[in-house]
Amino acid sequence: MNIKLLGAAFLVLVTLSFGHAWAQESPGIDRSATGGAQTLEDIMARQQKLNVDGAFRSENLGNPANAAPISDHLGTRGGVSRSDTYRAIRYNNFDARTQARGPAADVMIQDGGMTWLKLREGPVINYGGGALLCFLALLVVFYFIRGKIMIDGGPAGTTIQRFKAVERFGHWLLAGSFIALAITGLITLMGRSFLIPVLGPEVFATLAAGSKWVHNNISWAFMIGLVMTFVMWVAHNIPDKLDWQWIKAGGGIFTKTHPSAKKFNAGQKIVFWTVMVLGFSVSLTGLSLLFPFQLPMFADTFGVINSVLGTEFATVLTPHEEMQFANIWHSVVAFAMMLAIIAHIYIGTVGMEGAFDAMGSGQVDVEWARQHHDLWVAEVEAKQSKGEAS
Ligand code: HEM
Repeated sequence: MNIKLLGAAFLVLVTLSFGHAWAQESPGIDRSATGGAQTLEDIMARQQKLNVDGAFRSENLGNPANAAPISDHLGTRGGVSRSDTYRAIRYNNFDARTQARGPAADVMIQDGGMTWLKLREGPVINYGGGALLCFLALLVVFYFIRGKIMIDGGPAGTTIQRFKAVERFGHWLLAGSFIALAITGLITLMGRSFLIPVLGPEVFATLAAGSKWVHNNISWAFMIGLVMTFVMWVAHNIPDKLDWQWIKAGGGIFTKTHPSAKKFNAGQKIVFWTVMVLGFSVSLTGLSLLFPFQLPMFADTFGVINSVLGTEFATVLTPHEEMQFANIWHSVVAFAMMLAIIAHIYIGTVGMEGAFDAMGSGQVDVEWARQHHDLWVAEVEAKQSKGEAS
């Protein structure tokens, strides 16, 4: 799937989740009684999530240019009042002088943090977790309707090599690390809500710290596995006309006949490209989270989306906003990947007789291979007989 479309879909999700809260117009508030300062009505309106125009505060930062210099004897900030200073910090308009340096050091209060927090604690956990549970339930229903896909007429008893040791190593590096990342990622995302009541805060604190360590370090194995499997299998996953025939036949899931396929059928190609594209995206955002503020990528991505789709997404983001986008996108893509992988694990284990051997011993039953990958078997046999003849 096109990365820009994924970005656009993500923004639609964010807008749908939060847009409604901010869609209502700002009420006209009379601030004459407070001399233009905040009123109780402002506070109440914000609590009701009405769109209060904050210009009366953000543009009221005193006038440091005309104020007495700091050396005059008006106080530590010279002619600038404390409220002015607070508002300047609040609206990121304060010439901060902190010892800490770095891209985010000058941002002391960041509004978007609340939007990010609510998105993460609400829709990401609810829709993501809900989708996982629904999908698992659907697979159980599917299993009871379709049952295990068996080898028609039973196994032949002779085998053919499907994956070499290096291919199986690459697959299990990718698979093992992904499963560890999924479990530790879910603990980090939702453990506070679901595990603290069960384990208590002390045990959970240890588990959460361990999860973070595992998640950060195993990510490298995942990226190596991703590159290995991409290099080894990309040539077999280029879409061709045959894939369309396979899709039209529904992969033979509900029919007696098996559509023809080479080494990978259309269903497997979909799994391959889903893993590669989403795996690449989750790795990029993961690196951005691993090295905070060093790899900002969303402002530039939005710029590309705007120029292609004519949208008007923000192309100037604060360092914290970059991190918040990276965090939410990382979780959304990870959930999408988990859904695809649950289906993949199902078909590789309980869903189909003889499939697991391909990644277990590397040897599959010839009859299984003929039924699911007839053209690949023909290719291998042709090569073998050529080798014997020469
Ligand atoms: C317990 C977990 C898993 C099992 C039992 C499993 C099993 C298998 C099997 C049997 C195949 C070969 C199918 C064939 O003969 O053509 C395969 C291929 C593959 N696996 Fe897995 N797998 C698991 C987890 C994963 C994970 C977590 C990922 C990626 C994050 C992954 C990515 C792939 C890819 C890209 C292929 C090649 C395309 C395909 O056959 O669909 N696998 N897996």
